[in-house]
Amino acid sequence: MEIIHTIEWMKQVSRQARLEGRVSGFVPTMGALHEGHMSLVRAALAECRPVVASIFVNPTQFGPNEDLQKYPRTFNEDCGKLENAGVDYLFAPEAGEIYPPGFRTWVNVEGLSERLEGKSRPGHFRGVTTVVLKLLEIVQPHKAYFGRKDAQQARIIRQMASDLHLDTEIVVCPVVRETDGLAMSSRNAYLQQDERRAATVLYRALDGARQSIARGERDALRLTAAIRETLRAEPLTNIDYVQLVDAKTLEPVTRLRGACLALLAVKIGATRLIDNLLIEERAGEFDTNL
Ligand code: PAF
Repeated sequence: MEIIHTIEWMKQVSRQARLEGRVSGFVPTMGALHEGHMSLVRAALAECRPVVASIFVNPTQFGPNEDLQKYPRTFNEDCGKLENAGVDYLFAPEAGEIYPPGFRTWVNVEGLSERLEGKSRPGHFRGVTTVVLKLLEIVQPHKAYFGRKDAQQARIIRQMASDLHLDTEIVVCPVVRETDGLAMSSRNAYLQQDERRAATVLYRALDGARQSIARGERDALRLTAAIRETLRAEPLTNIDYVQLVDAKTLEPVTRLRGACLALLAVKIGATRLIDNLLIEERAGEFDTNL
């Protein structure tokens, strides 16, 4: 695996792959790689060559009181994981390479970015879409892979790719979970032992909703109320939001119809975690995906 630090060299490699007519894949990350990231890498390797991964802890998607400074940085370990998996190139630029002095252009996907995560983390998605567009411009992949754990992010990036006629297909991959159901996240590393145990409540709450839907419940208010009740029963949790929304518009729904997402954000101690349940109507039946 070749490690590339400069935009110029990364662009040269990308141009060459396109010239050779190869289908390239890209997995953007902020490092601290876990099985969730590695599932994206494997999905990319199954369909593309070369596969490029990036590690860039993007400062513009962190708010002033968020965890940019303490975000886990495990570069050497991450390199080992990517190399062993068979990734061809790792793009790992410095912050000054991506945001040189005088930088003043931002990408904002209006209407989808201000709600839910965007409401709790103002400016977050502006940082995400700006860096993702930059990375896609630099790497020029045919396909880019994102996890459905960050369902709102995936939806916003899809919208950006479509609105800006990007030459990259956005592939969204399933959530990867620990054996007790906790969705894998680099931020799980912040959890103390009792918090780690309490964090399974996110999965349990969504799984409860999944079971209610299987029994025929279609009312969004009753489903979100039951999710809240399960979350509240765990003393270490502090709910930020629980919402059932249309998967495309991200607007709240009152009844399940078409594709919906049950989205939640919860603080466990000082650590903020998110998770979601995908609910899809097919021929009048509802399929759920945790
Ligand atoms: O999901 C992430 O890790 C980040 O938001 C991303 C897509 C790499 C952009 O910094």
